[in-house]
Amino acid sequence: MQFQLTEEHLMIQKAARDFAQNECLPGVIERDEQQKFPREQVLKLAELGFMGMMVSPDYGGAGMDTISYVLAMEEISKVDASVSVCMSVNNSLVCWGLEKFGSEEQKQKYLVNLAQGRKDGELHIGAFLLSEPEAGSDATSQRTFAEDKGDHYILNGTKNWITNGSSASVYLVMAQSDVEKGSKGINVFIVEKNWPGVTVGAKENKLGIRGSDTHSITFTDVKVPKENRIGGDGFGFTFAMKTLAGGRIGIASQALGIASGAYELSLKYSKERKAFGKEIMHHQAIQFKLADMATKIECARLLCLKAAWEKDQHLDYTLSSSMAKVFASEAAMWVTVEAVQVHGGYGYVKEYHVERLMRDAKITQIYEGTSEVQRIVISRSILK
Ligand code: CAA
Repeated sequence: MQFQLTEEHLMIQKAARDFAQNECLPGVIERDEQQKFPREQVLKLAELGFMGMMVSPDYGGAGMDTISYVLAMEEISKVDASVSVCMSVNNSLVCWGLEKFGSEEQKQKYLVNLAQGRKDGELHIGAFLLSEPEAGSDATSQRTFAEDKGDHYILNGTKNWITNGSSASVYLVMAQSDVEKGSKGINVFIVEKNWPGVTVGAKENKLGIRGSDTHSITFTDVKVPKENRIGGDGFGFTFAMKTLAGGRIGIASQALGIASGAYELSLKYSKERKAFGKEIMHHQAIQFKLADMATKIECARLLCLKAAWEKDQHLDYTLSSSMAKVFASEAAMWVTVEAVQVHGGYGYVKEYHVERLMRDAKITQIYEGTSEVQRIVISRSILK
C-alpha cells in the first residue's frame, strides 16, 4: 500500500494551488458579496484543462485520474468554493456521464466542447438537472415529463437548485416518461439551453457559494430529438445514481478543501495573534482545536483519496464516495465553526475569510445527496 503522491500528482496539486492563490483569491470576498459568477476564473480553469480533467484527450479532455481531480478540487476549494462547484459539476456529473454512457455522436457533438470548457473562445459548460421542487432526496419522484412522440420527446416541467443554471449551455435533464414504471420510466436527455421553451429562473440568493449561479429551469413543450436521449429507454435513474456516485467524490473533496482552507487560516492566525501575553497557539484551548481540525481533515482526505483510487481501479466506489461525502462535509462544518471561534471577533467579519468558508461548508451537507441520503446509501451497502 502506497500513501505517496506521484511527481505528476504533486505538479497538478501545485498548479491548482497557484491558480487558487493567484486567480481565485483576488476578489473572492467581493464576488461572494455581490453574488458574482466567477466567469473569468472558470475560463482560466478551462485553459488549464481542469474543466474536463478526467475526460480522454480523444474527446477534448486532459486525461488525468480521479486522484488528480481530488487534489485540484481541494486546492481550489480552500479559496473559492463557488469556482470549485462549477468545476465539479462539469467534470463529474456532466462530462463523466457523457463519456461513460453517451453515444459516439453525442460525445462528438457535446462532450468535446464541454470537456474543454470553451467553444469559440466563450465559456461552454454543462449542468445536471435532477432536483425538482418536490423531488430532492426523493429523486425517483420526478414530475418533469418527457412524452415519447416517436422521433422526439416533448419535455415539460421545472427543475430546482440547478448549479451552473444560467452559465451552462448544455443541460443533462432527468425526466419521467412512464409513470407506471416508476424509477425505470425515467430518461435522461441532452437539452441545449437556447432551445425554444427553455426558461432560466431568477438566481437564488444563497447563504454560501454565492458566486455560483443556482437557478430553477422550466421546460415548456421543449422538443428534444430522440438521438439526444442518453442510453436506452428508462436508463435515466441509473444514469443519475451512477453519475452522482462520482459527483460525491468531487463534493467530498470540495468539503475537504473548505475545511483545510479554514484550518490553514486558523493555524496562521494562532501564530500571530497574542492573548494573555503569548501567541494563542501556546494556549492548550487553541492547540486542542487545531489538533482536532487536523485529525478530521486527514480522515476526510484519506476517504476522498480512497474513493478516487477505487474509481481509478474500476472498482465499485458507491460506498466509499458516500462515506467520503458524509464525513468530509460534516468535518467541514465542524472545522469552519471552530475556525471562526479561533479567530474570535475577527472570525465574524469578512476580511478574515473564515465566516465565508463556514457559510460555504453548509451546502456540502446538502447537495449531491444530503448527509441523510449518504447514510441511506451506506447502510444499504453494509446491510445487503
Ligand atoms: N446504481 C445503479 N442503480 C441504482 C443505484 C446505483 N447507485 N442506486 C439505486 N439504483 C436503482 C435501484 O437498484 C432501484 O432499482 P430496482 O427497483 O430494480 O431495485 C432503483 O434505482 C430505485 O432505487 P431505490 O429503490 O434505492 O430508490 P429510493 O427512492 O429508495 O432512493 C436514494 C434512493 C439513494 C435516496 C436516491 O434517491 C438518491 O440518491 N437521492 C438523492 C439524490 C441526489 O443526490 N440529488 C442531488 C441532486 S444533483 C446536485 O445536487 C448537483 C448540483 O447541482 C451540485
